Amino acid sequence: MTHTVTLIPGDGIGPEVTEAVVRILNASGVAIEWEEHPAGLLAFERSGQTLPVALIDSIRRNKVALKGPVTTPIAQGFTSVNVGLRKALDLYANLRPVWNLPGVDAKFHGVDLVIVRENTEDLYAGLEHEVVPGVVESLKIITERASTRIAHFAFLHARRNSRRKVTSIHKANIMKLSDGLFLESVRRVAREYTDITYDERIVDAACMQLVMSPGQFDVLVLPNLYGDIVSDLCAGLVGGLGVVGAANLGTEIGVFEAVHGSAPDIAGKNLANPTALLLSAVLMLRHIDEPAAADRIMQALGTVLTTGTVRTRDLGGTASTMEFADAVAKAL
Ligand code: NAI
Repeated sequence: MTHTVTLIPGDGIGPEVTEAVVRILNASGVAIEWEEHPAGLLAFERSGQTLPVALIDSIRRNKVALKGPVTTPIAQGFTSVNVGLRKALDLYANLRPVWNLPGVDAKFHGVDLVIVRENTEDLYAGLEHEVVPGVVESLKIITERASTRIAHFAFLHARRNSRRKVTSIHKANIMKLSDGLFLESVRRVAREYTDITYDERIVDAACMQLVMSPGQFDVLVLPNLYGDIVSDLCAGLVGGLGVVGAANLGTEIGVFEAVHGSAPDIAGKNLANPTALLLSAVLMLRHIDEPAAADRIMQALGTVLTTGTVRTRDLGGTASTMEFADAVAKAL
């Protein structure tokens, strides 16, 4: 069967890592027809829209997309294309499995946790205004509906993947209403999953415990902003942003992208590690029911990483993005 998948090359290192991953997927033998669409600045220059209707239509039709990172201007300019895409397609769950890859040096070994980040609300609602000069207000939106939905996602994910525990992360001691509602919603859902242990952490203490002993965590469920921050922290535990994949999931649609951004500091230099997007693509292959191809790629990736002669710079090697991709394709 041939799958049609929307491909968003993105900005910065996006085109480099997507090209590398497409090369590996093609070598895996899985039949994919790619429908390529720009997003962000490039799309704006071509169509006057950062998130073109044609792109959204393509994802709605295909139900699955592989996405490179898209740059969001800081403190000015257009609003985030990533946030816009997640909202437009109601991709309410951001799933980020964090574990040690074979052959990758890391601060910790034996890390195996899953971050489930609420993806549609919180401070990412982007509702900000200047009250008076020198005073701005940013609205943190938390709803019972979205909190309950993400909690069910986390517990179901735990159950289906034989995981033991879900920990909700919050700051309800200070934000008693907003984080309080999130926490209360997760607690209510937890009572329905008596087979899964449930516990809670305040976000600051959770960060400390994650960098001291990450092994105590299993599935983490977090509101949007804490999920974003804690994801990067957890990537740092296992070797950095170059080695953690992710998926944005709705009820029908999946958009697969790495945790990392467009990395302007190394863009265009063929230095980026495509592993993170490759791991996202592996999640995509499982999602579209191609587990054999996913397993083959994981095996080839493991072979290249443990052999250790072809590594990108972030993992202490000298290989370029494409040299690494070619090595994985060859191992396939
Ligand atoms: P970043 O994740 O792009 O980079 C942080 C650091 O990690 C940089 O030193 C970079 O070189 C390194 N890095 C990231 N990915 C790497 C890879 N695959 N291989 C090797 N090194 C890698 O974060 P930053 O600099 O804060 O954000 C840059 C832009 O990306 C911003 O415009 C931001 O809004 C956007 N962004 C987009 C995301 C998305 O499209 N989903 C997610 C996060 C950020």
